Parts: sequence; structure tokens; C-alpha cells
Amino acid sequence: MQQAVDREQVRAIVDGWRESGSTIALVPTMGNLHEGHLSLVRAARSVADCVVATIYVNPTQFGEGEDYASYPRTLDEDCRALESCGCDLLFAPGHPTVYPLGLENSIRLLAPHDLSSILEGRSRPGHFDGVLTVVARLFNLVSPDLAFFGEKDFQQLLLIRHMVADLSLPVRIVSVPTVRESSGLAMSSRNNYLDPAHRAAAARLSLVLAEVVDQVGRQRENWAQAERSAASRLKDEGFKVDYVVVRTSDALAKPSSADDGLRVLAAARFGNVRLIDNMKIF
Ligand code: PAJ
Repeated sequence: MQQAVDREQVRAIVDGWRESGSTIALVPTMGNLHEGHLSLVRAARSVADCVVATIYVNPTQFGEGEDYASYPRTLDEDCRALESCGCDLLFAPGHPTVYPLGLENSIRLLAPHDLSSILEGRSRPGHFDGVLTVVARLFNLVSPDLAFFGEKDFQQLLLIRHMVADLSLPVRIVSVPTVRESSGLAMSSRNNYLDPAHRAAAARLSLVLAEVVDQVGRQRENWAQAERSAASRLKDEGFKVDYVVVRTSDALAKPSSADDGLRVLAAARFGNVRLIDNMKIF
């Protein structure tokens, strides 16, 4: 696996691949890699000639009081993990590569209000502006044909698709299903903040979502009732519920027509750890 930290290095490698006609896939991450991230790399590996993973903890997507400073940085382990699943290039840029004129002077993207102010955006104002800003910059630095994102961050996935369509970016977005621990807990770098007892209890979130999938799958008109009973079950299990909602898969709107594809999405705190998860209903 090759490594690059700045624009010149990444361009030299990617331009060489392009000249030989290879297709290039990008897997953007913030590092501290687990099987969820690696499933994106493997999915990319299975369809593209060359796979680039990026590791960059992006300051502009963290709000005041969030864990930017303490976000786990585990570059050596990440390198080994990427190498073991056939990644061709690890691009781990510093801030001057991603924001060459400095953070203060940087151009920022503004995510559309309707899709970015709800759910995650409600408790993390400005978060998706930061995500779109950095993803657009990574696309420009690497110019991939394909880019891989997890369904784990479903609202992020929709907003990235929206950005690509709206800015006519020449990249195809590929989504990858959520990888879970055997308990059902969706893998996340932030799970490491949970002690073992809390980790076992946190797995209840996915079980409650699976019940919503089952209930709404059988009787879709009961979606609002299913939301309420899921919220109260989670509270009983010791979660502080931020939201647990049934929404359309394309726009995260409240279900209306019978044709809508639906998903259940939730965010809840267990102890000090904020967990998010979502599942397809149909
Ligand atoms: P990060 O949280 O590191 O996640 C990187 C990618 O891995 C995202 O596409 C995310 O959805 C996916 N992912 C995380 N956990 C997963 C799981 N359990 N199963 C499948 N995929 C999973 O998301 C970000 O970083 C950042 O916002 C980023 C897009 C890199 C921009 O900074």
C-alpha cells in the first residue's frame, strides 16, 4: 500500500493510474477503523481497479463541545487494517492540504436546510455543512470515479448524493449496508467510549429498531404508534432518546403515500455516548 499526505503526492499516484485507464474508488474516513469501514474498502476493492482510503479528522464538521480533540487517532493500526484488505493508497492529509488557505479563509458549502436541519442536524447544527465541505475537497484532491459511504450515516449519505447531483460532480456514490457486532450494535468508532456493561446494553437500540421494522412492515399505517412505543421502550432501557422516527428513504420526510420506501432512524444517548442507527423497513 502506498501512502500520501499532500496534494502533489496523491496527484502523482492517481494521475499515473488514470493514464493506464484504471478506475479509481475513494473511501473517505476519519480513521480509527473497524469492520464497518473495512467493508467499504472491500466493496470498493470488488468493483474498482484502484482503491484510495482517506483518513482525516475534519474540524469543520465538529461542533462546540464535541469530541474533535479527543477523537481516537490510531494511524498505525489503521494502516495495517487497510493493507490487509487490499487498499492501494492511504491518503492521510494534514489541514494545509485540505484547507490550503487556512480554516478561517476557507470556502464552506451550505447543506440544504430541509435535509440538514432535521434529525442529526438538529442536535449538531452546521455538522453537515462541514461534512459536505470536506467531502467535496476530498473529491477534488483525488478525483475518484466512485466513492463509497455507509448506510450507518444515512442522512449523511443522502446529503452527499444530493451534493453530487446538485453540483454535477463526476463521481458515482455507492452505499454499503451497516456492519453490526453479533449483539446487533452498529459498529462505530464511538462505541469504544462505552465500557463493557454499557456496550451490551447499548445493543438494545438495534433490537428496538428491528421491532419497529417488524411492526411497520406488517402495518405501515401504524408508523407513528411504532415511533412512540420505540421511544418509550428505549427510555425504559436507560437511553436518553434524541429521536426515533419512521421516515421516507429518499427525503427523510414523514410517510404519506403508500409507495414510499421507509426507514426507521434513531439517535440516543447511553451514558455519555451518543449512538445513531437506522434500518430499512421496505
Ligand atoms: P467515519 O465516521 O469515519 O465513517 C467513514 C465511513 O464509514 C462513512 O461512510 C460511514 O457511514 C461508514 N461507516 C461507519 N460505521 C459503519 C458501519 N458500522 N457499517 C458500515 N459503514 C460504516 O462519516 C465520516 O467518517 C465522515 O463524516 C466523513 C464522510 C469521512 C467526512 O469527514
